Amino acid sequence: MKFQYLGHSSFLIDFGGKKLLVDPFISVNPLAKNIDIHSLKPDYILLTHGHQDHVFDVATIAQQSGATLISNFEIVSYYEKKGFKGHSLNHGGKYIFDFGTLKYVNAVHSSEFSDGTYAGNPGGFVIWNKEACLYISGDTALTMDMKLIPMTCPKLDLAILPIGDNFTMGLEDAILASDFIECNKVIGCHYDTFPPIKIDKKAAVKLFESNKKELILLDIGASYEVG
Ligand code: NI
Ligand code: MN
Repeated sequence: MKFQYLGHSSFLIDFGGKKLLVDPFISVNPLAKNIDIHSLKPDYILLTHGHQDHVFDVATIAQQSGATLISNFEIVSYYEKKGFKGHSLNHGGKYIFDFGTLKYVNAVHSSEFSDGTYAGNPGGFVIWNKEACLYISGDTALTMDMKLIPMTCPKLDLAILPIGDNFTMGLEDAILASDFIECNKVIGCHYDTFPPIKIDKKAAVKLFESNKKELILLDIGASYEVG
């Protein structure tokens, strides 16, 4: 499993021989100015919720790649009406795709498109196959529901969690989340993009270390390999 960080909460993941793009918000993120969205040809686009900072580039990238969108019913329906194809799930449901199994899990947040259309309840994803098991929490608060993940999914190798605080959980709660999901290796996201979520990266990594956990903060454009 290989990741490329595209800024904010956006990742391109090589998983089970397919390319999965998560929450594309790239072309209007000045921190991600070196990423060319026209080079992105994912097989699937995973969307955790409908906020602009997670879906801004969906239409452009789906158009050029023919990717299948994976999200909740409301988000997939919204894009299907625009002519894109998708696979919808709802909370607690899983489905076996050609890259592995994907489960749509709970998140505590809100979800609405910028045009005011209701975007369903926000969620996260657990994806697994023989290579690895990964949790992408999406924007969320710390929630007791995270304890269900190790009870219902294979052992996690890695989790992508928001750490920027203000709009999502912050560092201290992300450390507790890592306990709840029984995964000590965390890739941080949803930080530095906007003034209220600027963080001290060195201090963040240290705080995780002092709790015997690993926090990986990738440079935008950098890749990371697991397993
Ligand atoms: Ni959000
Ligand atoms: Mn967000």
